[in-house]
Amino acid sequence: MQTDSSFTFVLFGGTGDLSMRKILPALFEAHRAGGMLADSGKIVAVARHVADRAAYIDWVNEHVKPHVSKNGVDETAWASFLDRIEFVKIDLGNPEDFTLLRDALSGRPGIRVFYLATGPSLFVPICHALASVGLNENSRIVLEKPLGYDLKSSNAINDAVGEIFAEEQIYRIDHYLGKEPVQNLLALRFGNVLFEPLWRREWVESIQITIAEELGVEARGDFYDNTGALRDMVQNHLLQLLSIVAMEPPHSMDSDSVRDEKLRVLRALKPIDPRDIGKVAVRGQYHAGGIRGSAVPAYATEPGVKPDSTTETFVALKVEIENWRWAGVPFFLRTGKRLADRVAEIVVNFRAVPHSALGASALRGGANRLVIRLQPNETIRLYCLAKQPGEGMNLASVHLDLAFDRFFREGQMEAYQRLLLDVINGRLALFVRRDEQEAAWRWVEPILNEWAASNKPPKPYAAGTWGPAAASAMLAQHGTCWLEEEN
Ligand code: BG6
Repeated sequence: MQTDSSFTFVLFGGTGDLSMRKILPALFEAHRAGGMLADSGKIVAVARHVADRAAYIDWVNEHVKPHVSKNGVDETAWASFLDRIEFVKIDLGNPEDFTLLRDALSGRPGIRVFYLATGPSLFVPICHALASVGLNENSRIVLEKPLGYDLKSSNAINDAVGEIFAEEQIYRIDHYLGKEPVQNLLALRFGNVLFEPLWRREWVESIQITIAEELGVEARGDFYDNTGALRDMVQNHLLQLLSIVAMEPPHSMDSDSVRDEKLRVLRALKPIDPRDIGKVAVRGQYHAGGIRGSAVPAYATEPGVKPDSTTETFVALKVEIENWRWAGVPFFLRTGKRLADRVAEIVVNFRAVPHSALGASALRGGANRLVIRLQPNETIRLYCLAKQPGEGMNLASVHLDLAFDRFFREGQMEAYQRLLLDVINGRLALFVRRDEQEAAWRWVEPILNEWAASNKPPKPYAAGTWGPAAASAMLAQHGTCWLEEEN
């Protein structure tokens, strides 16, 4: 859908890693696709260490171009994309510099978007500086995670930003919500009559949500060591996915209907009793190991990480939702760095038939399962039992595949592209509302506190494995196991 009005997209942190890898490539894709961005829309990059526009364009050519278009760059589109880019040199430590930005933006038509691709410590100073030159009116502001370190610090940022921007001007990004299969999960659930009647405790035995990474902490050792997997992945991405899987059908897809339903789920999460933490939460840290044949070092020896660090690089949790639909159904969440594979998926395990007229093979687990894979490939796969050919009635697991790239050859979008277009077009549904964020912090905080108080080190796991054995043992207690081998 084309933006109906013009826009100016102001990118703070214009030379940062996120701008380079995600934001500018996503804007380029929207530009290249044609018709998604108003022709008059401009990108104004803000940075401190670059002399002028010519130098910034050199930087974009050198650093951003390698990250665009897997199938090669369309040079004509690239040249016209560069024409959209303007540059303002601002020292964020110097609020007077914002008059330069005000002058650069004055008289422009359409909506202004301020994208803060900076560290969270700069969010509040930037908002104040924008307000001091009157740029908070008729604007939207995009905040990247991490938004705070705990409930208190997240509230402090939200309070300060909230004094300058109204909630409907604030777009808190969780890029997992922009992934195509997450959208498709909504379509599957609420666009068909087939699944929704089964989507409840009577028919669902358990649900797993995994975000596994092969990557380690890369160049972010220092940040990560003060963060850990629970804050980096669970408080946001995993709980957001969980809330989409578990929510009630919204009245419509407008932003507050969807976010109200997600909030209800987050508020219904069963609080974790500190005495039970050993039973429902596993934390791990990777030691040296190997990934795809290459040796990788231990987390504690990564640059920026304290050698005696007790930060978790792996978390597995058993979560329960206290409502009629989900009472008693365990949701198993898991995420980790340096695991055996890069995969993100949601697995809905349905119950076995209550009685089998077809023999014992109809009671085996592993079928009656829906797997929604977010990455690396985007598929939804429904496993059922079918009769094996030949004599007798032996059942085996087969699957129906919904491979999006076969049905829809055109129009696939990266998460950031979708979310940036939503910001420009004023669609808030895929952004995290303040109350959702608070509810998520409220739920994770007792786990963080308990881990901090317990002084127990995280459980070790070798890089290139699926995490500590305790994560598998937790599921074994419920008669199930992590799905790890499907492709
Ligand atoms: C980010 C985390 O939010 O998500 C990173 O800070 C993580 O640590 C990344 O690597 C994973 O995102 P994706 O889309 O690559 O799975």
